[in-house]
Amino acid sequence: MKEYALPKLPYGYEALEPVIDKDTVTLHHDKHHAAYVTGFNTTLKKIVEAREKSDYSAIKALAKDLSFHGSGVVLHNLYWENLCPKSESKEPVSGNLLEQIKTGFGGLDKLKAEMGAAAKAVEGSGWAVLVWDKYADQLLVLQAENHQKLAIWGVAPLLVIDVWEHAYYLKYQNNRAVYVDALWGIINWKIVEERFSKAK
Ligand SMILES: [Fe+2]
Repeated sequence: MKEYALPKLPYGYEALEPVIDKDTVTLHHDKHHAAYVTGFNTTLKKIVEAREKSDYSAIKALAKDLSFHGSGVVLHNLYWENLCPKSESKEPVSGNLLEQIKTGFGGLDKLKAEMGAAAKAVEGSGWAVLVWDKYADQLLVLQAENHQKLAIWGVAPLLVIDVWEHAYYLKYQNNRAVYVDALWGIINWKIVEERFSKAK
């Protein structure tokens, strides 16, 4: 059995201010993100126990939990990594990613409009996810409900936006759209470009 671990934030808890306040980052990382790590590891342990006993009577719930918590961990890992302090966030002005964004969406502003709209329109808790679809060599914007629903298997996530209330409620209350719009100011495009190069 191989457990997941909670990665440390790549910056200080206050580094994303004023877009995301220190308290939100602290709770989000130390409590919510951590809970998915614990949830995944606990579920995995139960599956190993079931395996040892050859008792798969609870496998439906366990498999669901594994997907929910596992996807929760992965998306949060991606999320923290694809954010950065405002002073370090530089939109791409050239390069392969920008070219692909132009081909796929017609430009960076059009991508931001589509992904922002997708993020704002997620039903309940979930994510907006920019992915590289290797099957057709194209960029796509997806939504994820909770963490695991509405995915396309095998695509590579490049940029994720968390729109669970825990990601913004302390500072923005119910104004998810204001949070999403502000988030564009703290995107780590360098990481997005790196993920794109690897996915290609
Ligand atoms: Fe979250």
